[in-house]
Amino acid sequence: EMSPEERAFQERIDRGEKIEPKEWMPEGYRKTLIRQIGQHAHSEIVGQLPEGNWITRAPTLERKAILLAKVQDEAGHGLYLYCAAETLGVSRDELLEKLHSGNMKYSSIFNYPTLTWADIGAIGWLVDGAAIMNQVPLQRTSYGPYSRAMIRICKEESFHQRQGYDIMMKMAKGTPEQKEMAQDALNRFWYPSLMMFGPSDKDSVHSAQSMAWKIKINTNDELRQKFVDQTVPQAEYLGLTIPDENLAWNEEKGGYDFSEPDWSEFYEVLKGNGPCNKERLGARVKAWEDGAWFREGLMAHAEKQSAAKLA
Ligand code: ACO
Repeated sequence: EMSPEERAFQERIDRGEKIEPKEWMPEGYRKTLIRQIGQHAHSEIVGQLPEGNWITRAPTLERKAILLAKVQDEAGHGLYLYCAAETLGVSRDELLEKLHSGNMKYSSIFNYPTLTWADIGAIGWLVDGAAIMNQVPLQRTSYGPYSRAMIRICKEESFHQRQGYDIMMKMAKGTPEQKEMAQDALNRFWYPSLMMFGPSDKDSVHSAQSMAWKIKINTNDELRQKFVDQTVPQAEYLGLTIPDENLAWNEEKGGYDFSEPDWSEFYEVLKGNGPCNKERLGARVKAWEDGAWFREGLMAHAEKQSAAKLA
């Protein structure tokens, strides 16, 4: 039932060739990429908010400078990814309109609050750790501009992960109160971090087709398992406890058994009912509206310039 064009396209994918913007591609491939890259871009932009919350309250000047740099990196990742999406024929304004009207998603994780400084550590360690686990394989994704964006983003993301782990080290080896804050942050961010990889494979709508197109390289459960296996020894090194009584090494599979997150909570967050959904989207809509005068000024200036050129 595949058309000859579709068959030839699939053969290119199977050979490991990259697909570039001006080349023919099935409409479904284009739509899937716009959805995934667009949501990824939105996640980077919305992801600035929970951490931005702590820039003014970072405990030292050094920590403030590091956090500021990291949040700026995220803005850069977002813009980089919007550019990659634009090569597929969608405008940045369209993508933003869909975000602001609630018609496009961003990662569930950014709908949780950052209550203490230890949360900034937990985000770097766990959230950026999960992001890297997902993004390293995406460097080999079949769409050229997305794959190249991922190469650069992953380099910065690994610095983010280290800065988070460094905060956790300081807290976990600090006073009993600091260690307690670190444990509390781990308790609150563990399951939301597991949710970042998406629903379990049996409930993942897009995985099969996206993997055939090499838009995705691994299934959601594969990456979640790898993340748990990588993170458990890191928690042990910190002297912290993963909040899961079922966590146990499984010799046979060569990985940990662990509890699934509460999937009903995940779907509630996706529907807009997480603890901070309204606040996060509200902040983005306000930023867009507050910037209207500036965008209008730029447009007026550009029109004057081109009119002057014509005259
Ligand atoms: N948060 C919000 N929505 C999610 C999440 C999540 N953690 N996981 C899955 N979903 C959504 C999917 O977007 C899809 O909804 P849609 O059809 O309305 O788009 C639905 O749940 C079903 O999930 P899947 O069929 O498994 O979706 P998909 O194949 O797109 O897999 C995944 C989801 C793994 C997140 C994939 O899109 C991906 O790898 N994206 C790129 C990475 C990314 O976006 N990272 C952002 C967070 S990291 C950061 O910004 C620091």
